[in-house]
Amino acid sequence: MNKTTVKSPMLAALAAATLISGCGKSDSGAVRMITEATFPPYEFREGTEVVGIDVEICKAIAAELGKPLAVEDVEFDSVLPSLIAGKAELAAAGITVNEDRKKMVDFSDPYVETGIVLISAKSVAYKGGDDIKGKRIGVQNGTTSADYVVEKLQQEPERFDSPASAFAALKAGKIDLVIADVDPAENLIKGEPDYAITSEPRFLTSECYAIAIKKGQPELLATINKVIAELKESGKLDAIFAEFKAKADALVDAD
Ligand code: ARG
Repeated sequence: MNKTTVKSPMLAALAAATLISGCGKSDSGAVRMITEATFPPYEFREGTEVVGIDVEICKAIAAELGKPLAVEDVEFDSVLPSLIAGKAELAAAGITVNEDRKKMVDFSDPYVETGIVLISAKSVAYKGGDDIKGKRIGVQNGTTSADYVVEKLQQEPERFDSPASAFAALKAGKIDLVIADVDPAENLIKGEPDYAITSEPRFLTSECYAIAIKKGQPELLATINKVIAELKESGKLDAIFAEFKAKADALVDAD
């Protein structure tokens, strides 16, 4: 696993160093974005670099603040706890706005409307109703897909560290289906003739993604919302979506 967890001694040392040098803030340095980079087209690795729609949005926010952007990649269930612990100023990871999370962090205005879908073998084509009760369902840990299985289906999912590892388990016959956000799901089934998004209706939920920040920073929130509004109005956000959807597709095709 090529990422730092919050528990890592190296990060603890880094955090201590930051504390000594500047109270955990990056006033002179970069704006720090925390993410989980297995989620194309929002964040994924191109070589060693983390790129994607969320990175571009955060770069625009950092530019507005007159600073460069630094990106850190952690497990998805560590993204919001790390933000709250002061390890980053921005959390952007295709994070769905919901009531539970609103109690922990403040969210910007949404930048996309989306939802979760079901992937299964075309030969079984699970729809997502009674037909999936008691089936082995793979999800990325800490996500709204995991919540959906627990809360709506009242069962325990099989938890993976990425949508791709859940899909690999599906192909290996270890689970029966995967539930994931639609964009990474579409990316996973590209070039996989035996698998499809088979949920009917297609979306199991309706969700919005937004940038999260630590609570109680109205000025920062206003700046972020201004940047998002400008990206939307200028058509730049659409261009960013098109660019990174194409890049994510190309990566898969190159495999
Ligand atoms: N939208 C879902 C959620 O907020 C999944 C996000 C997963 N993001 C990621 N970068 N792995 O729970």
